[in-house]
Amino acid sequence: MCGIVGYIGKKVAIPILVNGLYNLEYRGYDSAGVAVLGQSKLYSVKCPGKVEGLARLAASQLPASDIGIAHTRWATHGVPSVCNAHPHLDCTQSIAVVHNGIIENYYAVREKLLEAGHVFASETDSEVISHLIEEKLKTDSSLDSAVLAALAELEGTYGLAILHTESPDCLVAARKGSPLLIGIGDGQFMVASDQAALVPYSSEVIHLSDGEIAFISKDGIDLRTLENREIFRRAEQLTLVSSDIRKGNYEHFMQKEIFEQPESLENVMRGRISADDDSVKLGGLLNLMPKILSARRIILTGCGTSWHSALYGKYLLERFTKIPVEVEYASEFRYRDPVVGGSDIVVAISQSGETADTLAAMRMAAAKGATCLGVCNVVGSSIARESKAGIYIHAGPEIGVASTKAFTCQLAALSMLTIAVSRGLNPVSEEPKLIGAELRKLPELMSETLKLDPYIREIAEAFFESPNFLYLGRGYNFPVALEGALKLKEISYIHAEGYPAAEMKHGPIALVDSEMPVVFLAPRDETYGKVIGNMEEIKARGGRVIAVVDHDDPRVEKMAEYVIPVPRTIDSLNPVLSVVPLQLLAYHIALLRGCDVDKPRNLAKSVTVE
Ligand code: AGP
Repeated sequence: MCGIVGYIGKKVAIPILVNGLYNLEYRGYDSAGVAVLGQSKLYSVKCPGKVEGLARLAASQLPASDIGIAHTRWATHGVPSVCNAHPHLDCTQSIAVVHNGIIENYYAVREKLLEAGHVFASETDSEVISHLIEEKLKTDSSLDSAVLAALAELEGTYGLAILHTESPDCLVAARKGSPLLIGIGDGQFMVASDQAALVPYSSEVIHLSDGEIAFISKDGIDLRTLENREIFRRAEQLTLVSSDIRKGNYEHFMQKEIFEQPESLENVMRGRISADDDSVKLGGLLNLMPKILSARRIILTGCGTSWHSALYGKYLLERFTKIPVEVEYASEFRYRDPVVGGSDIVVAISQSGETADTLAAMRMAAAKGATCLGVCNVVGSSIARESKAGIYIHAGPEIGVASTKAFTCQLAALSMLTIAVSRGLNPVSEEPKLIGAELRKLPELMSETLKLDPYIREIAEAFFESPNFLYLGRGYNFPVALEGALKLKEISYIHAEGYPAAEMKHGPIALVDSEMPVVFLAPRDETYGKVIGNMEEIKARGGRVIAVVDHDDPRVEKMAEYVIPVPRTIDSLNPVLSVVPLQLLAYHIALLRGCDVDKPRNLAKSVTVE
């Protein structure tokens, strides 16, 4: 998704803006641009490609200035090019705008502006914003009124930063549907799409909510609603530090985040599982627990990897709480006018807490009377702030586009939710106690699992040229099969599909031949015997079997070409470990194929547009 950075303060803006764009690269982009204000004139450079190219252009062409805006563009309307890159200027070259989101009614607005004589330089929806402000300034010379009047005519979503030559001490920021933050430093302020761009120049942060606008000068922040009502918002401590968004000794963020999983599992469980009786205390849910315990149904919703976590949550919650659980793709759930009401609990699962479909699905469910919870990683994110309560997974910043440590922390969080709810319903049930005890062992078992890395690299060397993969699992490991396939797809661009293992017989087995690697999740759980049968079926058709198993499984060792043993744990927690070899397999295959592991083509870390 697009990245926005703005600066106003005592320092030279360009290096701070460029640093901010570097810290937002992980969001995915195809072009970049920057504009600064100097002696009542706007100076701007833009280029397709990487921030590095923009940094060189800016250093050589832009004057020193203490106010500026910058942008990395993830194309929605118009190809990646100089003219489509942001900032977009108006006809008089006195207004510069950077935008994240989609202006739904841009065509009608553009037609009206064309009739009024405006000349457009790009194919983008975003450019209408600068020309619309220009048009409004013709009848109202105050920047704030002109911007408010222009925004009132726009439909769709935006996170915006705006400069105007006639207001050299004013950086405007507005939010409707795309995240935007204000960073507060010593005599300086920043605007950004996410916290990563604020480091290390801000110590506090203000989260703009939808329908809010800020007029920021060096002396402070004038925060208002789009209806021009003043608002006061307390600043929060910025918890992110530079090391959080640096690769350290790792080659890639994805590699770092895979190897951070012992620590991130410690963090998600810290202070939540009692060492005395393995009971779980989820502080964020305490007030809502009665509502959850009396729920008619729990609906888990999310996208991508978070949807896979939701599917895992269904298996666990239904088995141990007997509360009916439904899993919904957020993008479908939000539009199908579902039957949802006051006796439903809707849990929005989202690493970024900003995924547009998940946020919209949660808002739709809340509007229908459901009680909405959030399971998020980013503190202060939109889903976290708009849900009634929730569980932060404390995985630490996840920069790599492919989600890894957030997934295993989501599984741990859903396991703790299951324990808390089942103990509330049936305090004497022993099974949830067992989960709690085993959860506390996971960080060490995860460290053990990560020692498989060199062996997984060997397997990757054997299969990195395969054009297709199948991933098969049953029960708790069906979501892991889906997740393993997604990891491979999104960073190596190999076509891969995940299936419930038994589904092969209903068609997909026709795909199997000696060129087809088939990855099985085959722990010795209640479905083990059936999975072995499926493995036989694949082998009988020449498929090449790679099996993730519990330690010491002589039976599978006789059957599979590669056997990947993960440490033994209880059935319901095996997925937290069995997914790791699949994360590593995708990582090494992508490297062998020369792919950009952290910023795979066409993808963005947080999908804040529909
Ligand atoms: C996962 O590797 C992908 N990057 C993607 O599917 C992601 O899980 C999805 O976009 C949801 O993101 P969220 O968890 O931030 O809502």
